[in-house]
Amino acid sequence: MRKKIVAGNWKMNLTLAQGEQLINDILQAGLKLAEGQEVVVATPFPYLTKAKSLLKNYPGFFVAAQNCASEKSGAYTGEVSAEMLQSVGVDYVIIGHSERREYFQESNAVLAKKVDQALAAGIKPIFCCGEPLAIRQAETQNAFVAKQLEESLFHLTVEQLKNVVIAYEPIWAIGTGLTASAAQAQDMHAFIRSQIANKFGREAALHLTILYGGSAKPGNAAELFANPDVDGGLIGGASLVASDFAAIIQHLG
Ligand code: G3H
Repeated sequence: MRKKIVAGNWKMNLTLAQGEQLINDILQAGLKLAEGQEVVVATPFPYLTKAKSLLKNYPGFFVAAQNCASEKSGAYTGEVSAEMLQSVGVDYVIIGHSERREYFQESNAVLAKKVDQALAAGIKPIFCCGEPLAIRQAETQNAFVAKQLEESLFHLTVEQLKNVVIAYEPIWAIGTGLTASAAQAQDMHAFIRSQIANKFGREAALHLTILYGGSAKPGNAAELFANPDVDGGLIGGASLVASDFAAIIQHLG
Protein backbone atom coordinates (compact mmCIF):
# COMPACT_ATOMS: atom_id res chain seq x y z
CA MET A 1 0.00 0.00 0.00
CA ARG A 2 2.78 2.43 0.82
CA LYS A 3 6.45 2.42 -0.11
CA LYS A 4 8.96 0.84 2.24
CA ILE A 5 12.34 2.53 2.15
CA VAL A 6 15.77 2.02 3.64
CA ALA A 7 17.85 5.15 3.12
CA GLY A 8 21.54 5.39 3.97
CA ASN A 9 22.76 8.81 5.06
CA TRP A 10 26.51 8.89 4.65
CA LYS A 11 26.71 12.34 6.27
CA MET A 12 30.23 13.86 5.80
CA ASN A 13 32.06 10.57 5.42
CA LEU A 14 34.03 8.64 2.76
CA THR A 15 36.15 9.61 -0.21
CA LEU A 16 34.80 9.15 -3.72
CA ALA A 17 36.70 5.87 -4.10
CA GLN A 18 35.38 4.58 -0.77
CA GLY A 19 31.84 5.59 -1.68
CA GLU A 20 32.08 3.88 -5.05
CA GLN A 21 33.33 0.73 -3.35
CA LEU A 22 30.50 0.86 -0.83
CA ILE A 23 27.84 1.15 -3.54
CA ASN A 24 29.41 -1.69 -5.53
CA ASP A 25 29.51 -3.86 -2.40
CA ILE A 26 25.83 -3.13 -1.67
CA LEU A 27 24.90 -4.00 -5.24
CA GLN A 28 26.88 -7.23 -5.03
CA ALA A 29 25.02 -8.28 -1.89
CA GLY A 30 22.38 -9.68 -4.25
CA LEU A 31 19.44 -7.92 -2.63
CA LYS A 32 16.03 -8.75 -4.01
CA LEU A 33 13.70 -5.83 -3.49
CA ALA A 34 10.02 -6.66 -3.33
CA GLU A 35 7.37 -4.56 -5.08
CA GLY A 36 7.15 -1.18 -3.37
CA GLN A 37 10.53 -1.44 -1.64
CA GLU A 38 13.25 1.13 -2.28
CA VAL A 39 16.87 1.68 -1.28
CA VAL A 40 18.14 5.25 -1.20
CA VAL A 41 21.76 6.31 -0.87
CA ALA A 42 22.32 9.87 0.39
CA THR A 43 25.86 10.82 -0.57
CA PRO A 44 27.81 14.07 -0.19
CA PHE A 45 27.16 16.48 -3.09
CA PRO A 46 30.35 15.75 -5.10
CA TYR A 47 29.50 12.03 -5.38
CA LEU A 48 25.88 12.31 -6.50
CA THR A 49 26.50 11.97 -10.22
CA LYS A 50 28.77 8.98 -9.70
CA ALA A 51 26.27 7.35 -7.35
CA LYS A 52 23.50 7.92 -9.88
CA SER A 53 25.49 6.38 -12.70
CA LEU A 54 26.28 3.30 -10.57
CA LEU A 55 22.65 2.82 -9.50
CA LYS A 56 20.65 3.88 -12.52
CA ASN A 57 20.29 0.39 -13.97
CA TYR A 58 19.14 -1.11 -10.68
CA PRO A 59 15.37 -0.84 -10.22
CA GLY A 60 14.42 0.28 -6.74
CA PHE A 61 17.76 1.98 -6.03
CA PHE A 62 17.76 5.77 -5.78
CA VAL A 63 20.08 8.65 -4.93
CA ALA A 64 19.52 11.41 -2.39
CA ALA A 65 21.26 14.64 -1.51
CA GLN A 66 21.63 15.51 2.17
CA ASN A 67 20.46 19.11 1.85
CA CYS A 68 19.38 21.74 -0.67
CA ALA A 69 19.11 25.51 -0.76
CA SER A 70 16.00 27.32 0.41
CA GLU A 71 16.18 29.67 -2.59
CA LYS A 72 15.69 28.83 -6.25
CA SER A 73 18.92 30.35 -7.66
CA GLY A 74 21.15 33.38 -7.49
CA ALA A 75 23.93 34.90 -5.41
CA TYR A 76 24.11 32.33 -2.60
CA THR A 77 27.76 31.27 -2.62
CA GLY A 78 28.28 27.70 -1.54
CA GLU A 79 24.64 26.69 -1.82
CA VAL A 80 23.26 23.91 -4.07
CA SER A 81 19.75 24.36 -5.43
CA ALA A 82 17.10 21.70 -5.81
CA GLU A 83 17.02 22.43 -9.54
CA MET A 84 20.76 21.64 -9.77
CA LEU A 85 20.18 18.37 -7.95
CA GLN A 86 17.37 17.51 -10.33
CA SER A 87 19.62 18.28 -13.29
CA VAL A 88 22.08 15.58 -12.22
CA GLY A 89 19.41 12.97 -11.64
CA VAL A 90 18.93 13.16 -7.86
CA ASP A 91 15.69 11.52 -6.74
CA TYR A 92 15.36 12.46 -3.04
CA VAL A 93 16.75 15.11 -0.71
CA ILE A 94 17.03 14.90 3.07
CA ILE A 95 15.59 18.08 4.55
CA GLY A 96 15.71 19.15 8.19
CA HIS A 97 18.10 16.57 9.57
CA SER A 98 18.71 17.40 13.24
CA GLU A 99 22.39 18.06 12.49
CA ARG A 100 21.37 20.77 10.01
CA ARG A 101 18.87 22.18 12.49
CA GLU A 102 21.43 22.24 15.31
CA TYR A 103 24.73 23.15 13.61
CA PHE A 104 23.39 25.33 10.81
CA GLN A 105 20.44 26.90 12.62
CA GLU A 106 17.86 25.69 10.13
CA SER A 107 14.46 26.76 11.40
CA ASN A 108 11.10 25.20 10.63
CA ALA A 109 10.35 28.21 8.40
CA VAL A 110 13.56 27.78 6.35
CA LEU A 111 12.86 24.06 6.07
CA ALA A 112 9.40 24.80 4.69
CA LYS A 113 11.09 26.77 1.90
CA LYS A 114 13.51 23.91 1.21
CA VAL A 115 10.60 21.47 0.98
CA ASP A 116 8.95 23.82 -1.53
CA GLN A 117 12.13 24.09 -3.61
CA ALA A 118 12.58 20.33 -3.70
CA LEU A 119 8.99 19.66 -4.73
CA ALA A 120 9.06 22.40 -7.36
CA ALA A 121 12.16 20.76 -8.86
CA GLY A 122 10.58 17.30 -8.86
CA ILE A 123 12.71 15.91 -6.03
CA LYS A 124 11.12 14.05 -3.14
CA PRO A 125 11.93 15.47 0.29
CA ILE A 126 12.78 13.11 3.14
CA PHE A 127 11.67 15.46 5.86
CA CYS A 128 13.26 14.80 9.26
CA CYS A 129 11.66 15.52 12.59
CA GLY A 130 12.40 14.43 16.13
CA GLU A 131 12.92 15.65 19.66
CA PRO A 132 16.02 16.23 21.83
CA LEU A 133 16.54 14.29 25.04
CA ALA A 134 15.22 17.00 27.37
CA ILE A 135 11.92 17.07 25.49
CA ARG A 136 11.63 13.27 25.67
CA GLN A 137 12.38 13.36 29.38
CA ALA A 138 9.69 16.00 29.87
CA GLU A 139 7.33 13.76 27.86
CA THR A 140 6.43 16.62 25.52
CA GLN A 141 7.78 14.96 22.37
CA ASN A 142 4.41 14.81 20.61
CA ALA A 143 3.82 18.55 20.83
CA PHE A 144 7.43 19.18 19.74
CA VAL A 145 7.17 17.00 16.64
CA ALA A 146 3.67 18.29 15.83
CA LYS A 147 5.07 21.83 15.67
CA GLN A 148 7.87 20.72 13.33
CA LEU A 149 5.31 19.14 11.00
CA GLU A 150 2.90 22.08 11.17
CA GLU A 151 5.50 24.74 10.47
CA SER A 152 7.33 22.95 7.66
CA LEU A 153 4.73 20.75 5.94
CA PHE A 154 1.19 21.89 6.67
CA HIS A 155 1.21 24.54 3.93
CA LEU A 156 1.47 21.80 1.27
CA THR A 157 -1.40 20.47 -0.81
CA VAL A 158 -2.51 16.83 -0.57
CA GLU A 159 -1.00 16.32 -4.04
CA GLN A 160 2.36 17.67 -2.92
CA LEU A 161 2.35 15.58 0.25
CA LYS A 162 2.23 12.43 -1.91
CA ASN A 163 5.88 13.10 -2.82
CA VAL A 164 7.06 13.62 0.76
CA VAL A 165 8.62 11.00 3.02
CA ILE A 166 8.90 11.70 6.75
CA ALA A 167 11.77 10.41 8.88
CA TYR A 168 11.31 10.38 12.65
CA GLU A 169 14.72 10.67 14.27
CA PRO A 170 14.79 11.13 18.04
CA ILE A 171 17.94 13.21 18.49
CA TRP A 172 18.94 11.30 21.63
CA ALA A 173 19.20 8.14 19.52
CA ILE A 174 21.32 9.52 16.66
CA GLY A 175 24.83 8.14 16.66
CA THR A 176 24.59 7.41 20.37
CA GLY A 177 23.97 3.68 20.30
CA LEU A 178 20.68 4.38 22.11
CA THR A 179 17.73 3.29 20.00
CA ALA A 180 14.11 4.15 20.54
CA SER A 181 12.33 1.00 21.62
CA ALA A 182 10.04 -0.54 19.06
CA ALA A 183 7.11 0.72 21.15
CA GLN A 184 8.48 4.29 21.34
CA ALA A 185 9.03 4.31 17.56
CA GLN A 186 5.58 2.92 16.85
CA ASP A 187 3.89 5.41 19.22
CA MET A 188 5.53 8.38 17.55
CA HIS A 189 5.00 7.09 14.02
CA ALA A 190 1.31 6.51 14.75
CA PHE A 191 1.13 10.02 16.23
CA ILE A 192 2.76 11.53 13.12
CA ARG A 193 0.36 9.63 10.90
CA SER A 194 -2.59 10.88 12.96
CA GLN A 195 -1.39 14.47 12.64
CA ILE A 196 -1.11 14.05 8.87
CA ALA A 197 -4.58 12.47 8.76
CA ASN A 198 -6.07 15.39 10.68
CA LYS A 199 -4.58 17.90 8.27
CA PHE A 200 -4.52 16.11 4.90
CA GLY A 201 -7.07 13.32 5.32
CA ARG A 202 -6.95 9.61 6.11
CA GLU A 203 -6.05 8.51 2.58
CA ALA A 204 -2.98 10.78 2.44
CA ALA A 205 -1.87 9.55 5.86
CA LEU A 206 -2.25 5.91 4.90
CA HIS A 207 -0.01 6.42 1.87
CA LEU A 208 2.69 8.34 3.73
CA THR A 209 6.00 6.54 4.22
CA ILE A 210 7.44 7.22 7.69
CA LEU A 211 11.02 6.11 8.36
CA TYR A 212 12.72 5.60 11.71
CA GLY A 213 16.28 6.88 12.25
CA GLY A 214 18.57 6.65 15.24
CA SER A 215 21.14 3.89 15.79
CA ALA A 216 19.23 1.43 13.61
CA LYS A 217 21.38 -1.64 12.99
CA PRO A 218 21.04 -5.20 11.67
CA GLY A 219 20.29 -6.36 15.22
CA ASN A 220 17.31 -4.07 15.85
CA ALA A 221 15.96 -3.32 12.37
CA ALA A 222 13.62 -6.31 12.23
CA GLU A 223 11.91 -5.34 15.48
CA LEU A 224 11.62 -1.70 14.44
CA PHE A 225 10.35 -2.45 10.92
CA ALA A 226 7.77 -4.93 12.23
CA ASN A 227 5.72 -2.05 13.63
CA PRO A 228 2.68 -1.19 11.54
CA ASP A 229 3.56 2.50 11.21
CA VAL A 230 7.31 2.10 10.67
CA ASP A 231 7.92 1.92 6.92
CA GLY A 232 11.69 1.54 6.93
CA GLY A 233 14.67 3.47 8.18
CA LEU A 234 17.05 6.38 7.68
CA ILE A 235 20.36 4.83 8.57
CA GLY A 236 23.53 6.72 9.50
CA GLY A 237 26.53 4.81 10.83
CA ALA A 238 25.39 1.38 9.71
CA SER A 239 24.93 2.60 6.13
CA LEU A 240 28.71 2.97 5.83
CA VAL A 241 29.25 -0.78 6.14
CA ALA A 242 27.89 -2.64 3.11
CA SER A 243 27.09 -5.88 4.94
CA ASP A 244 25.25 -4.03 7.74
CA PHE A 245 23.31 -1.86 5.31
CA ALA A 246 22.37 -4.88 3.20
CA ALA A 247 21.25 -6.78 6.31
CA ILE A 248 19.05 -3.86 7.37
CA ILE A 249 17.49 -3.72 3.89
CA GLN A 250 16.69 -7.42 4.12
CA HIS A 251 14.70 -6.73 7.30
CA LEU A 252 12.21 -4.73 5.25
CA GLY A 253 10.64 -8.14 4.76
O1 G3H B 1 20.37 10.16 9.16
C1 G3H B 1 20.57 9.24 9.93
C2 G3H B 1 20.42 9.38 11.35
O2 G3H B 1 20.99 10.57 11.80
C3 G3H B 1 20.78 8.19 12.17
O3 G3H B 1 22.17 8.09 12.34
O4 G3H B 1 22.14 5.60 12.43
O5 G3H B 1 24.22 6.88 12.95
O6 G3H B 1 22.28 6.92 14.53
P1 G3H B 1 22.76 6.80 13.11
